[in-house]
Amino acid sequence: MKHTKVKDLLNSTTTLQEVNAKGWVRTFRNNQFIALNDGSTINNIQCVVDFENTPDETLKRITTGAAVSVIGTLIESKGAGQKYEIQVNKLEILGDSDAEKFPIQPKNKPSLDFLRENAHLRVRTNMFGAIMRVRSVLSFAVHNYFQQKGFVYVNTPIITGSDAEGAGEMFKVTALPFDNTPRTEDGKVNYKEDFFEKETNLTVSGQLEGETYAMALGQIYTFGPTFRAENSNTSRHLAEFWMIEPEVAFNNLDDNMDLAEDFIQYVIKYALDHCQDDLKFLEGRLLDEEKSKPQAERSEMALLEKLNFVLENNFKRVSYTEAIDILRDSTPNKKKKFQYLINEWGADLQSEHERYLVEKHFKCPVILFDYPANIKAFYMRLNDNTEPGRETVRAMDILFPGIGEIVGGSEREERYDVLIEKMKALEIDEEELSWYLDTRRFGSATHAGFGLGFERLVLFVTGMTNIRDVIPFPRTPGNAEF
Ligand code: 4AD
Ligand code: MG
Repeated sequence: MKHTKVKDLLNSTTTLQEVNAKGWVRTFRNNQFIALNDGSTINNIQCVVDFENTPDETLKRITTGAAVSVIGTLIESKGAGQKYEIQVNKLEILGDSDAEKFPIQPKNKPSLDFLRENAHLRVRTNMFGAIMRVRSVLSFAVHNYFQQKGFVYVNTPIITGSDAEGAGEMFKVTALPFDNTPRTEDGKVNYKEDFFEKETNLTVSGQLEGETYAMALGQIYTFGPTFRAENSNTSRHLAEFWMIEPEVAFNNLDDNMDLAEDFIQYVIKYALDHCQDDLKFLEGRLLDEEKSKPQAERSEMALLEKLNFVLENNFKRVSYTEAIDILRDSTPNKKKKFQYLINEWGADLQSEHERYLVEKHFKCPVILFDYPANIKAFYMRLNDNTEPGRETVRAMDILFPGIGEIVGGSEREERYDVLIEKMKALEIDEEELSWYLDTRRFGSATHAGFGLGFERLVLFVTGMTNIRDVIPFPRTPGNAEF
């Protein structure tokens, strides 16, 4: 007999003579009621065991975490909370779970820290089941959005010889031995003898390769893992995260902002439409978590309200220059509450500033654009008519409440001469990026794109507060378990 998913059983429109359910025991009450979960939904199906006719031996083995198969009748439930339950006729223990040893016990509510250390088992909790289902639906929504619009999905390389962001925070990839490393005459590592016969690293972004494809296919997007060896142990940074990078030929910065806003609203709406049960549960979890916080630190809106707010309100578009004025005159700046005080135009914005703008000043998602050229990457389009010494580029960052930067993007410098000048000034190897420069040599045109950090999106939608909790097996400084 084939088993039926718990979700389908709970959504049944009639009672059923004989059904088979398989899953893991969440709880077992009164020697009679199994709450069974199979991951298809956050909801458990109640399985009522005929304890008088079940051997004690078997009853003892129905413990939290055990895998079981039940065959029985799907009947209308007399108990509150569920429409249907299974009257069990036959129960089989598929895999025991020692109650003394199984770490995820419902009674002693495990901390998020403890669950992180048990990332392979935490997905057996309601919370992580919900998060990972929402994550999965969001990634489907990402593909849906771009595919419906005719974008081509491009798989850019994970091992690459180029440094897209010029930030230098890369993981090296090598097959060279650590002892007896081959050296050149001047004592440097001789990468000519390495696997790829050159220096390589894990990609920090697929953008540069993506641009070459956009300049042929028109509209493309990537969705893949990216790696950054930045030693920032924060609740917003991972060493391995997933990024979505659309790139569109003939788009300018305004088109880029429109695309990003529309895209984010679409995927959030998609999650609201397809993950109701999970999001309701996560909303309750967040309320619970916030009870222990002082009033001032609690969110003003509950999760679903916050998500709807983002759908219903335009993102506020503000230039960097306007933002600096706001920050300079802000109370935390005047009272020297910011760790980095904003004194002059040109300052790089820290997350404390971004969060002030979004959470305190505008109280909605914000798109900051036209940043100073010298705090942004080499490939960004220099604005025409900027004052000498105050050059700006057509960059944009999208800032979200509780998250900070969720998107970084720009219109690209399409002019070969200007780009070369910029690379020279930053001492970027032209030889190394000759292939990239070809897009500007042959049929160059205005184009723009952005990168959205997928985990930051999942953080926002699930209302979780630590990025380690929205990716199955997080990689952070000092942590690469599993
Ligand atoms: O702003 P970033 O560095 O932009 C780029 O990589 C561009 N090449 C994107 C493009 O224009 N195609 O990164 C983009 C986004 C950030 O806004 C953030 O959401 C996320 O990626 N991100 C991280 N997420 C988790 N952990 C990290 N260490 C992250 N670094 C960036
Ligand atoms: Mg950025």
